[in-house]
Amino acid sequence: MGFDENLFAGRRVIVTGAGRGIGAAVARAFLGCGATVVAHAGRSDAFVDRDLTPGLSADALARLTVLSADLAEPGSGERLAAAVLESGAVVDVLVNNAGTMGGRIPAADTPSAYDTVLDLNIRSTVALTAALLPALRAAEGASIVNTVSISARTGGSAGSSLYSGAKAFVSTWSRALARELAPDGIRVNAVSPGTIATDFHQRYSSAEKLKATAEAIPLKRLGTPEDCAPAYLFLAANGLSGYITGQVIEVNGGQFMG
Ligand SMILES: NC(=O)c1ccc[n+]([C@@H]2O[C@H](COP(=O)([O-])OP(=O)(O)OC[C@H]3O[C@@H](n4cnc5c(N)ncnc54)[C@H](OP(=O)(O)O)[C@@H]3O)[C@@H](O)[C@H]2O)c1
Repeated sequence: MGFDENLFAGRRVIVTGAGRGIGAAVARAFLGCGATVVAHAGRSDAFVDRDLTPGLSADALARLTVLSADLAEPGSGERLAAAVLESGAVVDVLVNNAGTMGGRIPAADTPSAYDTVLDLNIRSTVALTAALLPALRAAEGASIVNTVSISARTGGSAGSSLYSGAKAFVSTWSRALARELAPDGIRVNAVSPGTIATDFHQRYSSAEKLKATAEAIPLKRLGTPEDCAPAYLFLAANGLSGYITGQVIEVNGGQFMG
């Protein structure tokens, strides 16, 4: 049984990093439930035709706006917020999903990669959220859902220290925001993917590593973007999770049980 096709009818949803992978599946799931979606595709719209739009109905396509922006650039979060606000002054759901590891970075090299990795995974997320707060406050019961990572709890594997630390920041920041924004009726939660088969791991993990990981996962397989998307919808839907805030849902096949 899926979600009701009108669960988000009349609601405006922003998803970053939605051109491919997990973000694309999340944006498609919101569209399937009647939402109007602003999809920040990524640095370009290169993967939109592959992951975001295939098979969407004309009605869903009419509810979709695609933007692009490099969120590792200083000031990009603020600029993206301004672009989002051009098409509407209310945001019901904000999904901060754009992010990546930026390569396997040995500890000795982390100072030179620090700005890029943290600007993308932290600074632009914080800036976009802050700039959209008036629009979130203008909604009736808004919700923020942030993508963190299993590595925020485990530390990840070699070369991921900046990325894992950044995701731990977003995880703790989500809890702090949840408490601060509760009086405004804004709920803040996070989804923490385990090892999900997307372009992310094509870049950063060998086939052998992924095979060994899959064998070690209690559910005996890697996750898919479609395994992740329902957790976002659940956390964004007041009718389903209206009393849940400041929480992190781990979607990892049992890979980590915290
Ligand atoms: N896959 C996993 O196992 C896993 C596990 C834990 C957490 N996550 C997190 O889940 C989220 C989605 O990852 P994914 O697996 O779906 O990977 P993905 O397929 O590589 O998608 C990442 C998305 O973030 C965007 N992004 C990356 N760098 C950007 C930049 N500098 N400026 C703007 N957008 C940028 C990408 O846009 P471009 O097309 O421009 O690159 C893309 O839309 C990320 O936050 C990731 O850290 C993934």
